[in-house]
Amino acid sequence: MIKKLYKIAVLPGDGIGPEIIQEAYKIIEVLKKNFSFNVQTCEYDVGGVSIDKHGIALTQETIEGCENADAILFGSVGGNKWDHLPEIEKPEKAGLLKLRKHFDLFANIRPCKLSQHLLNISPLKNNIIKKGIDLICIRELTGGIYFGESNKVTNIDNPYAFDTEIYFQSEIKRIAKLAFKIAQSRKKKIVSIDKANVLKSSILWRNIVNEIAYEFPDVKLEHMYIDSATMELIKNPSSFDVILCSNLFGDIISDECAAIIGSIGLLPSASLNEKGFGLYEPAGGSAPNIAGKNIANPIAQILSLSMLLKYSLHLPFLSSCIDEAVHEALMKKYMTIDISKNPQNFLKTNQIGDKISDLLAKKA
Ligand code: IPM
Ligand code: MN
Repeated sequence: MIKKLYKIAVLPGDGIGPEIIQEAYKIIEVLKKNFSFNVQTCEYDVGGVSIDKHGIALTQETIEGCENADAILFGSVGGNKWDHLPEIEKPEKAGLLKLRKHFDLFANIRPCKLSQHLLNISPLKNNIIKKGIDLICIRELTGGIYFGESNKVTNIDNPYAFDTEIYFQSEIKRIAKLAFKIAQSRKKKIVSIDKANVLKSSILWRNIVNEIAYEFPDVKLEHMYIDSATMELIKNPSSFDVILCSNLFGDIISDECAAIIGSIGLLPSASLNEKGFGLYEPAGGSAPNIAGKNIANPIAQILSLSMLLKYSLHLPFLSSCIDEAVHEALMKKYMTIDISKNPQNFLKTNQIGDKISDLLAKKA
């Protein structure tokens, strides 16, 4: 039987992106060698490196490379070097947000898990997280204030600027439906986050989510205001299963999710469109302050690859082997400095990639 050849477009980007992508490549090599995974990777520029080389953050070549692939593995973009540019040219907006919009990647999935055996990694007290954490944040990714009308007017006495939070019914419907479907495969509990005591867009959000809930009577729905949700997440994180939120609230809450499981360097993400095509990236940014030092945590990138195998290539076995190898590495206290409790004794980025690769190879 001829095995299907998969194509992955790899976009390392800026900051720690290229370093942690190297560790994901190691995992891909193990899958090729030990699991006869048939894959071809092609690398493309994005973000600041693309601005430096080609004058823009996202070239036609990169877009076409991604269009011709089965999925995109993304590092990170942005850094001080490009901060002086107008925001429409910056790596974040002209690179990453443009890609999200181009492929209609409306569903951002960020699983946030802390096993009961690794509670020490979390900054929360053991009695708060004794049951561990296992939640999934579903963030709307192509609408809301990130893409609403905005402007800056400075040629007057009292300059002003504005951004608009705008949601169409159809946008809320499709993300809510997906969240309910995901909840059905889990503990059947959704918390939908909004600010419906103040914002019109949130009132619409809440009403539409309520409508969709009728189609999923087996799922328990609760609404929570964003301010109180941030508090609940710290006080009682084990009570959450699926969290559903808008683009901006999801951006905020997902960093909080990362913090409670120990580090932003642990949180992977999948951004999917309706066809299941996706971009997979660590939820953290390019972290320019630690770039090039070989100390960044590559786990979020490796787990993003695992999500790519599961959601876009439909290879759940390979995906769970990677997840297990990561878990075993953490259990053996192979940790980068961001999560190691012993600052004298931590491993470098490349060493973590080697350890996880070895553990994975043993599973073949
Ligand atoms: C994220 C990041 C991005 C976002 C930035 C880099 C534009 O913070 O994926 O959470 O705000 O969506
Ligand atoms: Mn963010």
